[in-house]
Amino acid sequence: MKRRNFLLGAAALGAGAAWWARPGAEGAPYDDYFRALNQELKRNGNWRPSLVIDLDRLDHNIAQVVKSVRAPKHYRVVEKSLPSAKLLDYIMRKAGTKRLMSFHQPFANDDALLFPDADILIGKPLPVRSAGLFYQNLKGSFDPSRQMQWLLDTPERLQQYLELAQGLGTKLRINIEIDVGLHRGGVDSDQTLAQMLKLIEAHPQQLEFAGFMGYDPHVTALPRLAGTREELFGKVMQTYQQRVDLLRSQFPKLWREDLTLNTAGSPTYRLHEQESLSNDISVGTAMLKPTHYDIDTLAEHVPAAFIATPVLKAEGPLRLPGLDGLSRMMNGWDPNLRETFFIYGGNWMAEYESPRGLRRNELYGHSSNQENVTASIDTGLKVDDHVFLRPVQVEGVLLEFGDLIALRGGRIVDRWPVLSQAAG
Ligand SMILES: Cc1ncc(COP(=O)(O)O)c(C=O)c1O
Repeated sequence: MKRRNFLLGAAALGAGAAWWARPGAEGAPYDDYFRALNQELKRNGNWRPSLVIDLDRLDHNIAQVVKSVRAPKHYRVVEKSLPSAKLLDYIMRKAGTKRLMSFHQPFANDDALLFPDADILIGKPLPVRSAGLFYQNLKGSFDPSRQMQWLLDTPERLQQYLELAQGLGTKLRINIEIDVGLHRGGVDSDQTLAQMLKLIEAHPQQLEFAGFMGYDPHVTALPRLAGTREELFGKVMQTYQQRVDLLRSQFPKLWREDLTLNTAGSPTYRLHEQESLSNDISVGTAMLKPTHYDIDTLAEHVPAAFIATPVLKAEGPLRLPGLDGLSRMMNGWDPNLRETFFIYGGNWMAEYESPRGLRRNELYGHSSNQENVTASIDTGLKVDDHVFLRPVQVEGVLLEFGDLIALRGGRIVDRWPVLSQAAG
């Protein structure tokens, strides 16, 4: 065969293979749920990017947690993951708990005002000046000397909090962060723990020991290489037990049956059904189940939070600026580039959910103002319809849309403000 014929043959073969390997169309219209939600938002929505909470789905998730966290264990609601007073109130009432875990001084001040009979455990060691600001901004009948637990991780910070208590002329309740394997700080030796407990014991007017917090999400997050789930969980509980044993044997005066022995988080809360050491279980994100929580331990939870945003423009096949010829080749090859939509807003930490087959376009670039989204022709999506996304996580994303839209039976029933970042 002549060299020219050979090259032509190879090129034809290559083109055939590329055609054969081209992607299939992935688009599909809304399912019934999102079709109805689109109609409801067209009737009663905001006509801008909105965060929808489906209360029926939330009820299902609350029931899962209530079923799992049984007496003598208590359920503690992780406030940062559900940052709206009405949303927190709804969950606390349904789940029958007054326990909150807070991570942010302004939110903690809001909690104290809005839930005056709550027990608040701060979930990370805040700078002592931040704790001082909490007291400065405190309003209402919430009594921190009975209802607040400050999480502390080192003897040095404990000393700072002791001085804060002396300055304020009050008593601070101290919960000690223990490292149960996550290695995100926290006490990791009996020696450090003994040092802290000694300081607490020596200052009963200013400091009261309130319990331990040991957070363990690595148990479900780590690859098998690090050990089986049973092994990792076993190590968590062994470490926790060791710290409790030290407390009981060397500081028996600080031991009380009603200490808060907090643990877990959404990914691991079910695992604690098997142990009887802890008595306080934190869960937040699993109530809304963003995509990052599509994990086996949360298989019984359902997504309950969606971003909804109107389609502003439907522009036909993808056209990249200045590259019309190349764009024609691209959308000839990939049917998922045959429709281009520009949506109201975009670039959120979220994944496209409905209609199916929508894609961010990496070549066009991203926009928080009018994001470019492509799809095959099968979505049926039109201007003024809504695109739905699922947040990847909720703690930041929920704060980006103004009031949350509460949905019940497919109808908008309320609008819930999110917590404020203002000083207090
Ligand atoms: C100390 C602590 N407990 C519990 C949680 C669990 O929160 P969620 O259930 O929202 O994942 C977190 C999350 O960051 C945490 O830091």
